[in-house]
Amino acid sequence: MSDGKGTGVTRDQLIQGLQEDIAREYKAIIQYIIFSQKLDGARYMEIARILEGHAHEELDHALAIANQLDYFGAYPVHEPKPVVVSEENEGMLHADLDAEDETVRAYRERILQAVELGEFALAEVLQEIIRQEQDHQIELATALGVVADPRQRGKSQAQAQKTSS
Ligand SMILES: [Fe+2]
Ligand SMILES: [Fe+2]
Repeated sequence: MSDGKGTGVTRDQLIQGLQEDIAREYKAIIQYIIFSQKLDGARYMEIARILEGHAHEELDHALAIANQLDYFGAYPVHEPKPVVVSEENEGMLHADLDAEDETVRAYRERILQAVELGEFALAEVLQEIIRQEQDHQIELATALGVVADPRQRGKSQAQAQKTSS
């Protein structure tokens, strides 16, 4: 995909991708609403407050994607991606981090597709969203004591810091 030749993506595929993106945003809203209230213990007070902030940002993302779908004449889907729940603090944070990893991966692909099709306004909207999604990744990874970039996460902390600096 980074060979400069593009992916040959069609406008229909781009719209289909945006439908997947909005379904992921719905899922994120639901998980953040539940987990921000269900995290418990003094250690998790701060991150619970942060997750509440994420819920609001995910709603803004869903609205922004719906607006872009409307521009393309597409009716937004109404089903969220499958919501993952947990009763356990770390389980909730891991479920959110997994979702953010997938979301960042998908928006990277979507931005490349938008640029390839000359949809620069869409690309700009998506770039602002992906910046916030990476912040979400960082906040969750920090709470879990892992590296934010999933591509570096398998490595030891010291190795990862060296590669990312
Ligand atoms: Fe989002
Ligand atoms: Fe997010």
